[in-house]
Amino acid sequence: MVEKNRATLGGRLSAVLVAAGSAVGLGNIWRFPYIAGENGGGAFLIIYIGCILLLGIPVLLSEFAIGRHTHKNSVGAYRSLSKPWTPLGYNSVISSLLILGFYFVVSGWTLEYFTTSVSGAIAEFTSSAVNAEKFTAFTTNPLRPIICTILFALLTHIVIALGVQKGIERSSKLLMPVLFVMLIVLAVRSIMMPNGVDGLRFFFSPDFSKVTGKTFLDAMGQAFFSLSIGLGCMITYSSYFNDRTNLQKTAYNVIALDTLVAVLSGMVIFPAVFSVGIEPTAGPSLVFVTLPSIFNTMTFGPLWSALFFLLLILAALTSTISLHEVLTAYLHEERNLSRTKAAWVVTIVTTLLACASSLSLGAWSDFRICGLNLFDSLDFVTANILLPLGGFFTSIFAGWVLNRSILRDEVSDHGSMKCRLFGLLVMLLRYVCPALLLWIFLYNLGLFRL
Ligand code: PHE
Repeated sequence: MVEKNRATLGGRLSAVLVAAGSAVGLGNIWRFPYIAGENGGGAFLIIYIGCILLLGIPVLLSEFAIGRHTHKNSVGAYRSLSKPWTPLGYNSVISSLLILGFYFVVSGWTLEYFTTSVSGAIAEFTSSAVNAEKFTAFTTNPLRPIICTILFALLTHIVIALGVQKGIERSSKLLMPVLFVMLIVLAVRSIMMPNGVDGLRFFFSPDFSKVTGKTFLDAMGQAFFSLSIGLGCMITYSSYFNDRTNLQKTAYNVIALDTLVAVLSGMVIFPAVFSVGIEPTAGPSLVFVTLPSIFNTMTFGPLWSALFFLLLILAALTSTISLHEVLTAYLHEERNLSRTKAAWVVTIVTTLLACASSLSLGAWSDFRICGLNLFDSLDFVTANILLPLGGFFTSIFAGWVLNRSILRDEVSDHGSMKCRLFGLLVMLLRYVCPALLLWIFLYNLGLFRL
């Protein structure tokens, strides 16, 4: 039974834009280039696209089907379909909490870089060495990044408290096209930098000698993280879809947009990396060190820089909202808190975690979990373990447990999908996704090597 005053999204375009708003974010522009850089560039791109096709499409479609059929938050959705599977809903709650624990921190960095651009101080970011030094000084500072983190969490809170749909729907429609145009302009500028073509070569010509089992784990983790799947985020969002939304088209559009933004980001970052002589393996600082170098070669550099970081803020914001919404919807619908109270609880708890993870880069860096600081462990545990595990069980649930007619009805929008394609989807969900995910896991635990 659909709750009477539960929000629903307007038209088909809104569904695509809202889901793409969740998918397109720091994962594409900040995380993808540095993970690809650490894993040999082009070879990673191919494996990543393979993961999107074989794992991303089936899992995303399943989440859409589960969400729209039940019109409930992720815990409520699994509980109403099959009680023993409720823990899968809790995996979504825990994963969203842990992701926000580091995502708010990086989002806060984008705020800092935006203000640095607006004030013109970005002009002092003159070389890769200087940029790297400034980045480290900022992120290890005990106060400034925390203030930025809190501000970003409050920004997210305001949108959630206002009611997501109107603000997000409208801003997504305006911002997504602007984001594309910006990325294309920056990619062209970046490729024109000295040695820029070497960067493109690194990104597009695969060197499989760099591929290890970890590359597969990273590609799979990145695919889940970037598409916002494996943690019920898309279940929560699709619970707001109406019956006219075409689930397949929405899924394909979201995947195409998300992959395009990741590829364009690679085309911005790698030419710049090779031009300013940074190692492509530099890790999480990669974007924050290379981009100021591109901007400083441009006329009106600070202006471009401000515009870019503004877009990064907005891309991050539409993602933090979706993560926040998973938690708020859960507390509101399952724990009977008012929406306002639920939103505050989520904001306070996630901000505290994010502050701790920010401190783990500086003052608290001695505190380690399996050799990683808190920030890195939150990233690793969610992207490389919890989301793929969520994806594993989601595909088993959709392939083996969920009533076949529900899946077919939803995915085919009540009968419009060709039978052969549906058979392929079921086969992927039943056999291919679980087997592939299991193999990648076991391989990385050193248990199963071909
Ligand atoms: N997909 C988002 C990004 O690429 C991050 C995210 C992950 C958002 C999981 C929601 C859920 O930045």
